[in-house]
Amino acid sequence: MLELPIRPRRLRRTPTIRRMVREHYLAPDQLVYPLFVSEKISEPIEITSMPGVYQHTVKSVTASAEQAFAAGVPAILLFGVPKTKDEEASQAHASNGIVQTAIRSIKSAVPDLVIITDVCLCEYTSHGHCGVVQGNTIANDPSVEVLARVALSHAEAGADWVAPSDMMDGRIGAIRSALDAHGFSETAIMSYAVKYSSAFYGPFREAAENAPQFGDRRSYQMDPANRLEALREAALDVEEGADILLVKPGLAYLDILAAVKAEFGLPTAVYNISGEYAMVKAAARNGWLDEKSVVLEIMTGFRRAGADLILTYWAKDLAGWLKG
Ligand code: PBG
Ligand code: ZN
Repeated sequence: MLELPIRPRRLRRTPTIRRMVREHYLAPDQLVYPLFVSEKISEPIEITSMPGVYQHTVKSVTASAEQAFAAGVPAILLFGVPKTKDEEASQAHASNGIVQTAIRSIKSAVPDLVIITDVCLCEYTSHGHCGVVQGNTIANDPSVEVLARVALSHAEAGADWVAPSDMMDGRIGAIRSALDAHGFSETAIMSYAVKYSSAFYGPFREAAENAPQFGDRRSYQMDPANRLEALREAALDVEEGADILLVKPGLAYLDILAAVKAEFGLPTAVYNISGEYAMVKAAARNGWLDEKSVVLEIMTGFRRAGADLILTYWAKDLAGWLKG
């Protein structure tokens, strides 16, 4: 026999022992469920590239939010698809817009559910960019003005947290000021502080109908090659008043997630995005991967890297699996 005083396998011997020395836990409390509500439809429509994910009506999004909360998921992230788009994204801050209407419906049905709204212009602009276009550039400061109006309209409708995903400079400070000036000092901001320009957003474009009609988003979303810049972006948002920092995408950016958590220590969220969902769904459908085991492993990886909150299209399923 080998003389080995230290044998790590001693603590992997039985399921009970493994439970005792496990370092990270996954619980429904950590999950946020993204939901899409469309003004253009009268019945829910499944997204082809995201099986199990739907464009909802106000009625079905309310039912879906109720089911998620009943399963143990504490929060949803709401995206809207408007009937009409224009250059200025005017439907994004209309008091009777699709998201504002859905917020009121969900709030009255499930008052304790935390409603987070995605604050961006790309679903509402005719050109599909996240800001206002002037000439052939996405104009920063005019975009920030509109974004602050959008966030305020969500708070007025009853949103608990707003989540700006546009990546314009200075929007966290502007949104904080607008909210405070109108009596919404308790509305929190979950900032998409670090959002990379990613090909993994592909399937989302079908769900949110927000594909850019010209160019791409590289002049405002981050270059995947940059790490130090992520820390600068996050630092700015902390200074401007972000309550929660979000890193997006998730899987290819775990180093960034770990760095942001370690550097700032704020509640930190990760977005397990559409392409990450679609890949696993496609492989599972082919019988190439076991969906539940793979999803639990991915979520554990996010927790280990430092995520306090995980935004995932699996939230409702996960809550069920974790209970069982
Ligand atoms: C738009 C937005 C995107 C996502 C969330 N908000 C797409 C994009 O920037 O093109 C992606 C979410 C996902 O892929 O699941 N501001
Ligand atoms: Zn956008």
